[in-house]
Amino acid sequence: MENQFLGNQHFNISNQVVSATCPSNIALIKYWGKYANQIPANPSISYTLNHCNTQTSMEFFADEPFSVQTFLAGNEEVKFAEKIEKYFKNIEQYLPWILKGKYVIKTENTFPHSSGIASSASGFGAIASCLMELDKNFSSEIRDASYDLKKASFLARLGSGSACRSLYNGLVVWGKTDEVEGSSDLYAVKYPDEEIHPIFKNFNDWVLLIHEGEKSVSSTVGHGLMNTNPYAERRFQEARENFVPLKEILKTGNLEKFITLVEHEALTLHAMMMMSEPAFILMKTGTLEVINKLWNFRKETGHPLFFTLDAGANVHVLYPENVKQNVLQFIQDELVGYCQNGQYICDQIGNGAKSN
Ligand code: DP6
Repeated sequence: MENQFLGNQHFNISNQVVSATCPSNIALIKYWGKYANQIPANPSISYTLNHCNTQTSMEFFADEPFSVQTFLAGNEEVKFAEKIEKYFKNIEQYLPWILKGKYVIKTENTFPHSSGIASSASGFGAIASCLMELDKNFSSEIRDASYDLKKASFLARLGSGSACRSLYNGLVVWGKTDEVEGSSDLYAVKYPDEEIHPIFKNFNDWVLLIHEGEKSVSSTVGHGLMNTNPYAERRFQEARENFVPLKEILKTGNLEKFITLVEHEALTLHAMMMMSEPAFILMKTGTLEVINKLWNFRKETGHPLFFTLDAGANVHVLYPENVKQNVLQFIQDELVGYCQNGQYICDQIGNGAKSN
């Protein structure tokens, strides 16, 4: 299967500068647990975001000894460079020219550094897009744009699992499920547009930055702890099963069931963390305060305001565009007060990666 992405041995390298922008994404059915070679333990689905993104420029110096230098917002990041070097060595069979030069990679995030937003998703999405741009420039073949996009998603996955979903806009699925035609463990695919009710096409996501700073347990370690979690198999099974009702929900526009499913997924993710050995908790007091306030508001008003969580303390507050007027004041008055240093990002579903 991976063979379809093996690189062409005929290439012609030259000095180049390419750049790409890639958004972050927020999972609705979560990826948490994986096997060797970044194969997910269960399928996942996410919304691609709009404003939370990474801009990356990649300078390639042909025929220089292989090395990688990285800068984040103008500051050299040696640790990140080491990670990228390892990643490039790992994907050489898919891009046979990749170790034949020197790289200077400059990246900027639109969201605050250390905010806990999934910068690995947008970061690796942008790097994979840049690599595919270089590949195009070095090849003399006629290219197939949809294959190139699939390969960018495949390469992004090998950097960070959730990154493979950020290459596409809207609702995106990664991981094989019978419910979504063409889905694969190797790359992400767009959820079919014609199967999505209009209510789910124009959605808002306010990211409340509850806690800045390094997380106590990284995603990579968290995934690893699923290997010994006694509830893991049941959880993977549940995620697979959740695609069945979700498909129906997305088609019919059943917001109530959508809310139940999405919040359940978020809480299950954090429940898995609590039941790991050793256990860990990434939610903070503010996370729980926001959830309780939001639940009370929904109970009192009936407005479809709900949440999901990533692997951290931040709360993603979700609502469809058509109820904006009914919920905006509440979010501003009652929820943003829990954000550290008053930081939050008003985002919405957006477009996937693009080369600049
Ligand atoms: C909780 O993609 O960051 O956000 O593959 O090890 O890089 P690695 O993990 P990562 O995990 C994301 C986990 C999640 C859920 C999700 O995005 O589906």
